[in-house]
Amino acid sequence: MTAFFILAIIFVVGYVVLYTPAISGWSYYKIFEKKMADAQAVASSEDAREKKSFSGDEAAIAEGAKIYASSCAVCHKKDGTGGMGSDLTAELQFGATPEDIYKSIANGREGGMPPFKQQLSKTKILKVMAFMETLRK
Ligand code: HEC
Repeated sequence: MTAFFILAIIFVVGYVVLYTPAISGWSYYKIFEKKMADAQAVASSEDAREKKSFSGDEAAIAEGAKIYASSCAVCHKKDGTGGMGSDLTAELQFGATPEDIYKSIANGREGGMPPFKQQLSKTKILKVMAFMETLRK
């Protein structure tokens, strides 16, 4: 009985030493942190591949200009100052962050802005947005 008791104490002490990072230099937290860091590294390299903005990319802007001329200029005018569609060079009523503008184009807006997500891929919308930026300067 005493032998068992002593064994139990040795086991508990050993357990505490093993799982206390200050003593063993090792813990589940470290493994968890490393896994999180790895996951984040993967996520950010995917973002880079997907390319979230074509801002300043001349080739993309040229392509965006073509899409704009054929799909948007009818309503927003070639220079973006608006006609039947709103003025895209002035303050934007639905917001001017990339997310807001993307939503305006992809989902449309109630007052007559048609949704373009069926016609234009995400990349094409982002290219039009890069072109729109040049109108807004
Ligand atoms: C059929 C006409 C029409 C076409 C085509 C059109 N728009 Fe619009 N657009 C509008 C109208 C009208 C509004 C204002 C909607 C409102 O006030 O609810 C608008 C609003 C917008 C807005 C939001 C403006 C703000 O003040 O927040 C953006 C951005 C926009 N259009 C971009 C585009 C782009 C880019 C294209 C081409 C891919 C395009 N539009 C094609 C009519 C059009």
